[in-house]
Amino acid sequence: MFEHVDNYPGDPILSLMDDYQRDPRTDKVNLSIGFYYDENGQVPVLPTVQRAKAHLDARPTSANLYLPMDGHPGFRRAVQDYLFGALSEAQDERIVTIQSVGGSGALRVGADFLKRYYPNSQVWVSDPTWDNHLAIFSGAGFAVNRYPYLDASGKRIDFARMLEVFAQLPANSIVLLHACCHNPTGMDLSVEQWDQLYMLFRERSIIPFLDAAYLGLGEGVEQDAYAIRALARTGITGLVANSFSKVFSLYGERVGSLSIVCDSAAIAQRVHGQLKGTVRTNYSNPPRHGAELVSIILGEPQLAAEWRAELESMRVRMVAMRQALFDAIRERKPELDVEYLLEQKGMFSYTGLSAEVVDRIRERHGVYLIRSGRICIAGLNESNLDAVAQALADHH
Ligand code: LMR
Repeated sequence: MFEHVDNYPGDPILSLMDDYQRDPRTDKVNLSIGFYYDENGQVPVLPTVQRAKAHLDARPTSANLYLPMDGHPGFRRAVQDYLFGALSEAQDERIVTIQSVGGSGALRVGADFLKRYYPNSQVWVSDPTWDNHLAIFSGAGFAVNRYPYLDASGKRIDFARMLEVFAQLPANSIVLLHACCHNPTGMDLSVEQWDQLYMLFRERSIIPFLDAAYLGLGEGVEQDAYAIRALARTGITGLVANSFSKVFSLYGERVGSLSIVCDSAAIAQRVHGQLKGTVRTNYSNPPRHGAELVSIILGEPQLAAEWRAELESMRVRMVAMRQALFDAIRERKPELDVEYLLEQKGMFSYTGLSAEVVDRIRERHGVYLIRSGRICIAGLNESNLDAVAQALADHH
């Protein structure tokens, strides 16, 4: 039995994190997984999350019942308002939002739902993208293709080539897009490009599936939400997966959401029902604790404002670290073209370093990057900056 089970090759991000933890070097630096670390190299517990926890603890103890299949009702309402902003009632009724098990759970439930109703569609993801996108959609039974994202320099988006590919896709093709803070490149579409894309998608009946795991960490919540809000406003049908792991520093709670923008309120109701069915056959219902924390924070204007300020301070720290790394590398090697560090947005930068060079940097300097050449800017702080700058300057 099970003799034919082959080895799991590991996950390019999570398995590297295991290697990092096993590395005995005391001066090792983790710039791999997308964790937000503070200036002391710690994954923070946000003060608003602490207050929300205290709030929960102060409630009379109640039985720990299951949540509904679609999640915590207060969470769903608050998240829909947060993601989509102010909408008319008619626009609002066309959107279904359910709680999900992190962003990955949202992608998988969305993929399973799409596979049921569009079994012959194919999925298109950016080249490059987060590796798990490929695994999740092929795991759900889709053929997954890649669309070009970067030009030959590897440092700019090639929007014209992207459009060319999309213009050839058959109706009901599913296109995965990063709503902001593209992972791994940190390169995002402009407002005009989103508008153009949506126009084409409407003409060709293409289904966009947005992934928003870093909302607020690029240019701020309002700017980063443009793609999501434009989707609802322009009235095309599409899906939005969102994660609260990074922005609330609630990784282990597995809290996220899946929204589907439908053509009418009546369709939205049926879609909502089928999403519940999809959840039921995957894991029955989502966990309670993280969703309660998020709904307390988003549902209370004062706490929500304080959380926005906390989020902004994470963003600002990363922008400062980008500049500091840029300066430190330039000081060592003024001729190096590292402008990309300043131009890219969010938690990641795409260095263009090859997997072999990344391996060498890890072996010689104990600095961990993803083998695609992605570095997590949030792992930088004053204590490790010089070591990282030296490692990158030596190998660039
Ligand atoms: C990442 O890209 O590092 C994060 O999204 C964490 C993960 O699950 O891969």
